[in-house]
Amino acid sequence: MNVYFAPLEGLTDAIYRRVHHATFGGVNKYFMPFISPSQSLSFTSRQQADISPRENAGVPAVPQVLAKNAAYFLDMVKLLRDAGYTEVNLNMGCPSGTVTAKGKGAGMLRDRDALQRFLDEVYARAALPVSLKTRAGYEDIREWPELLSIFSRYPVSEWILHPRTCREFYSGQPHRECYLQALQAAHFPVIYNGDLFTGAECRSFLSACPPAPGLMLGRGMATNPALAQALAGGEELTVESLRLFHDRLYREYLKNWPEHAVVGRMHGVMSYLVQALDCPAPARRALRKAVSVQEYTDAAARVFAESELLAEPRFTPPPERT
Ligand SMILES: Cc1cc2nc3c(=O)[nH]c(=O)nc-3n(C[C@H](O)[C@H](O)[C@H](O)COP(=O)(O)O)c2cc1C
Repeated sequence: MNVYFAPLEGLTDAIYRRVHHATFGGVNKYFMPFISPSQSLSFTSRQQADISPRENAGVPAVPQVLAKNAAYFLDMVKLLRDAGYTEVNLNMGCPSGTVTAKGKGAGMLRDRDALQRFLDEVYARAALPVSLKTRAGYEDIREWPELLSIFSRYPVSEWILHPRTCREFYSGQPHRECYLQALQAAHFPVIYNGDLFTGAECRSFLSACPPAPGLMLGRGMATNPALAQALAGGEELTVESLRLFHDRLYREYLKNWPEHAVVGRMHGVMSYLVQALDCPAPARRALRKAVSVQEYTDAAARVFAESELLAEPRFTPPPERT
């Protein structure tokens, strides 16, 4: 059974993936946050920093591309092949309004004729195996049978399914029955993604779907970076391993990024990690207020010194707006 680290834009960049891989085991593939190709046949400098094989040395990283133009997608696949990658993931799952308004990400699920034309071209000409990351519908879950029948017809290398519609964003429960149907219908591996935040949740999911070839974990891994390792039978998370991961990450960002950018990024990292801890309110407050590198260094050290690990570290989704 494979465990993949989900792409989390703004968090799981090359530095994060490298430090995670050096600190914890259990992740078979790290999916990179999407890159969006344009007409110019080259990487932007930001894309270069994340994609370059040097930045990803030793890390099983899979690039992800967001595109609705098959020619741009295919050109990007060639660039990635030339950079040494052996697989490309196509993003058809991003529900963000700015992305779907352009007909990209989950927006591609809306017009099923255009979707098939795109997939026909991609699977006829792609220079590398192409895996998919999709949702189970755009507007309504009743679209699912048609989407399942479309995707099942292509030589998909692997299908990562987040079984919610685009409209559902991250609210409500994933439609797990869609995953079971995909497992039965598809002649390629289907990986489940969505709302598995603890080892117990992953195990209970797997016992309900015995033939599942793999799981992709996102926010649960960002909160408990030892989740995949523990699932593979390795050590559970400790305050020490959490701190080691944090401190290594912080050092790497300080070495590579301007200070103000480092503090901003580390607040993002900590917004997940702190959910694994029973952290006293004053230490949380000091962390929230930290602006400079010195303030952040002191506040993070205080969080780790004064906190205990929760019995079951778990990402908690923000309350749903009604
Ligand atoms: C902050 C954030 C950034 C994300 N960025 C991407 C992305 O670049 N590409 C992608 O396919 N999915 C992206 N996702 C979706 C995740 O990969 C994943 O599908 C989602 O978090 C559900 O999995 P989880 O419940 O295990 O977190 C993002 C999600 C979040 C919360």
